[in-house]
Amino acid sequence: MRVITADHPLITHKLTVLRNRLTPPPTFRQLVEELMTLLAYEATREVRVRPLEIETPVAPTVGVRLSDPVPLVVPILRAGLGMLEGMVKLMPTAEVGFLGMARDEQTLQPTTYAERLPDSLSGRQCFVLDPMLATGGSLAAAIEFLFERGADEVTAVCILGTPEGVETIRSAAGERPVTLVLGALDQGLNEHAYIVPGLGDAGDRLYGTIG
Ligand code: PRP
Ligand code: URA
Repeated sequence: MRVITADHPLITHKLTVLRNRLTPPPTFRQLVEELMTLLAYEATREVRVRPLEIETPVAPTVGVRLSDPVPLVVPILRAGLGMLEGMVKLMPTAEVGFLGMARDEQTLQPTTYAERLPDSLSGRQCFVLDPMLATGGSLAAAIEFLFERGADEVTAVCILGTPEGVETIRSAAGERPVTLVLGALDQGLNEHAYIVPGLGDAGDRLYGTIG
C-alpha cells in the first residue's frame, strides 16, 4: 500500500483552524471542502487518462481526457459528504456512489446502513472520502466492499489519520492496489478511540449532533 502524507504549509494552516474547537460549523464545512481540493491534487496523480487530439487556434496537438469508465468517487456518510464537493470540483465528470457507515462507539465496529453503488465496479478507479481514519475499521470495511464489487484500484483520502489506522488499512489491503492520502498523521487514539490531537467528531462538527 502506498501512503502519501501531505506536507504543505497551506494544508497545515487550514488544518490548524479546522482542529480548533472554537471554529464554527460553517467555517468547518468550508475548510473540509478546501482541504479536500488540495488533497485531491495528490490523490488523482495516477488517474487514468487517454490521448485526445484537439486543435488550438494555432495548431493541432494531442492532450488527454479522463479514460472510460470514469472514476467513481465514494464519500462515506455522514462525514465524507463534507469532502464531496471539494473532490468533484476538481474532477467534475467523475461519477459518485454512496456508502453510509456508522461506528458503534462501544464496540468500535462499523455497520453499513446505506449503499448506492453500481452493481459492478469492474475496471473502475475508486476514490473513497472520509475525513477521519481512527481505528481504521470503517475505511477497511469500505475498501473491502469496493474490491468485492470488482474495483480495480482504491485511493482513500482522509484529512486526519493515526498510525493504528494506517496499519489496519495496510493489512486489509494486502497485495491489492490501495493508496492512502492523508492531510496529517496524528499521534494516535485516546481511550475512546478518538484521534489525538484530532478535531473531535467530524460528523458532529459538520452537521450537528444526532445522538
Ligand atoms: C467517523 C468517521 C469515520 C469513522 C472513523 O464516522 O467519519 O467514518 O468514524 O472511525 P474508525 O476509523 O475507528 O472506524 P462515524 O461512525 O462517527 O459516523 P458519522 O460520519 O455519521 O459521524
Ligand atoms: N470519528 C471521528 O469523527 N473522530 C475521531 O476522532 C474518531 C472517529
